[in-house]
Amino acid sequence: MIDTAVSHPPTLKAVNLSPRRIPEIQGNPLAFLQRNAAEHGDFIHYPLGLWEVFQLNHPDLIEHILVTNQRNYSKNTVQYNTLAKITGRGLLTSDGRFWRRQRRMIQPAFHRQKVLGWGQMMMKATQNMLAGWDKAAQSGQPLDIDEEMMAVTLNVVGEALLGLDLQADAGQLTHAVLTMLDYVVYRSQQLVALPLMVPTPRNRRVRDGLHLLDDLIDKAIHDHEQGQANPDTILSQMLTAVDRETNERMSRDELRDEVITLLVAGHETAASGLTWLFYLLSQNPCVAAELVAEIDGVVNGRLPTTDDLPNLPTVQRVIAEALRLYPPAWVITRRAIAADTLGGAQIPANALIIMSPYTLQRHPAFWANPDQFDPNHFTPEAEQTRPRYAYFPFGGGARLCIGDQFAKVEMGLVVTAVLQKYRLQLLPNHPVIADPLVTIRPRHGLMMTLQRR
Ligand code: HEM
Repeated sequence: MIDTAVSHPPTLKAVNLSPRRIPEIQGNPLAFLQRNAAEHGDFIHYPLGLWEVFQLNHPDLIEHILVTNQRNYSKNTVQYNTLAKITGRGLLTSDGRFWRRQRRMIQPAFHRQKVLGWGQMMMKATQNMLAGWDKAAQSGQPLDIDEEMMAVTLNVVGEALLGLDLQADAGQLTHAVLTMLDYVVYRSQQLVALPLMVPTPRNRRVRDGLHLLDDLIDKAIHDHEQGQANPDTILSQMLTAVDRETNERMSRDELRDEVITLLVAGHETAASGLTWLFYLLSQNPCVAAELVAEIDGVVNGRLPTTDDLPNLPTVQRVIAEALRLYPPAWVITRRAIAADTLGGAQIPANALIIMSPYTLQRHPAFWANPDQFDPNHFTPEAEQTRPRYAYFPFGGGARLCIGDQFAKVEMGLVVTAVLQKYRLQLLPNHPVIADPLVTIRPRHGLMMTLQRR
């Protein structure tokens, strides 16, 4: 039951952080945020180096930043400036008029009907993955499910975005994208790092990766212009889009930034969500059994399609619940452009705002049995008992994830197809540690054994 005393907006508490906690921020920033919230409450203010930080852990405060006064909060933060070293001025990291123009031009590519149109391709990529699983099932050899999910989600987004031939281009693409993600993690853990143009071995790898992506994008643009590509890709929408307000088209550099952004934003997030989902199911056999019964009843041995998804409510709740306990985007930051009043407190211009779906989605004031995996947290009745922004794995307001429907459809199809054929069990004694990197990842992968059903 929701505790009504704490469901009111909290008052601000100023906290003096001991400098001894700096290593904790670098070592495990998520544990740092959790400890702050547990010790000091839902609305706290502390100085951190040059920044005035406001850490929010209450739905009303989150709604103010993401929705009500979202125009006053920019993405000029370390989190997004680090990502921008790779993604440039793509949707995830840009702001203001430029961001609005780009979003207007790209949004139609993510229309629900378009996303449903990619269902068959998503299923083909999943079946390709599963074709490789039979050998592991027969030999009892464990598989790293995290690696498998990273591969399938990259194939899916690569095909939807560029129309890449999964078999021919996947190896190169995987290599390039993983190098980029590695670099973002590295940069976010370094206080000082040499700029990319300095030819250190790491910088060279990143620059090679960026060149490789550039080549792939050039080839895809060329194929689209020659009419040799699937006209339903996101790239083709971006190539032909003319902004209705400015009459402008995207330049080659802007296209490149958006493509890299979508590859980075649409790949590891969905993979992380799926990986934790399979982990949670392995720890909750009763839920897994209920899920399998639902899938068998609806899909009945044939290939799942997007038409099945509305008839699979448990699948949808299990996905929502996995994204509650392990939200891939575990932290969202903003910078105040001008001074503002939030929950009765003054927020100075330039303040850094930190919001964590991970901490709020486990807040005992808003969630019964918050640490327990229970898909019934998402029955319509349960949803009515809590404020909208107690749950925000995809962010909210104008900057809501553009790929939320894409991710839900993709995850729904992958989960259904996997459970239709296999029972997955965690390898005994395999250590599962959640690492808050760009997304939350299992530090040692997720080694599981498979049994053919
Ligand atoms: C489970 C999977 C996913 C999760 C949890 C997720 C989460 C998020 C969150 C929290 C944001 C908002 C960040 C902020 O406000 O600062 C966001 C934005 C974004 N996401 Fe996702 N995402 C997922 C999948 C995808 C997919 C599949 C795509 C594309 C194919 C995608 C593309 C983007 C883009 C482009 C933005 C920036 C949107 C804008 O500001 O206009 N995401 N995502």
